[in-house]
Amino acid sequence: MHKYIIMGVQGCGKGTQAKMLREDFELVHISVGDIFRWNIQEHTKLAARINRIISAGKLVPDDIVEEIIRKRLEDHDWNYGFILDGFPRNARQSEFFLESYDIDAVIHIDVPDKLVMKRVRSRRLCSHCGLDYNLIHRRPAVPDTCDVCGGRLERRKDDNEQALRERLRNYHNKTAPVLDLFRRKELVLNVDGSGTVEEVQNEIRKRISLPISEYVEASA
Ligand code: AP5
Ligand code: MG
Repeated sequence: MHKYIIMGVQGCGKGTQAKMLREDFELVHISVGDIFRWNIQEHTKLAARINRIISAGKLVPDDIVEEIIRKRLEDHDWNYGFILDGFPRNARQSEFFLESYDIDAVIHIDVPDKLVMKRVRSRRLCSHCGLDYNLIHRRPAVPDTCDVCGGRLERRKDDNEQALRERLRNYHNKTAPVLDLFRRKELVLNVDGSGTVEEVQNEIRKRISLPISEYVEASA
């Protein structure tokens, strides 16, 4: 069983890389942001409490986040392990997590702020199936249209300039110290995230000693 946390500044590629690992190694990908966005899309009770906070790029209160993580991990559907994406993001969340769980490694995808801002500004998501596009490295064949389902492509609500600045501020003030804490426990694997998606995936697999897939080998 493998238990990982994937960390890094907003837009560094946590979701992209975690999904690639999930597909090949049957790891469960637990993205707190995806769980929140699902709630907002489905207009759940929780959505009313978090919608504005997320759109403004602020952090959702810790008690809500902890409840989400606790319930999700209690599902015990992670026989081969999990990758936690977007959690923990501050000291309290890391204490909460380490009280009950242990991990094998923290994968830190290191990308400068300037580059992530470019990536986030170019991100588009299919409003129907949720597929990720990027106007720099993954353009749709027909502008603003999903190649797979024909859905309309849109920006994520929190991918505007003001929310992005707030997200980056939160990362440097609150999340970076958590990374330092994991570093002191010698759990952090630093991966340069400025290369192509495949190069970064390749590097992650080398660092955590997982086999490199044919797809990744061919395109690296
Ligand atoms: P969350 O959904 O986790 O957003 P985030 O942290 O801002 O990170 P992103 O999802 O924007 O970036 P990513 O690193 O996953 O990059 P991606 O692979 O998409 O959280 C959203 C919100 O929920 C938070 O702001 C907060 O409000 C709330 N929240 C979540 N967790 C919380 C917590 N623990 N506590 C409190 N609140 C919480 O890639 C980005 C783009 O770049 C994509 O278009 C992709 O195609 C492209 N890309 C990726 N890799 C590359 C590459 N190597 N080269 C070129 N382009 C690339
Ligand atoms: Mg993400």
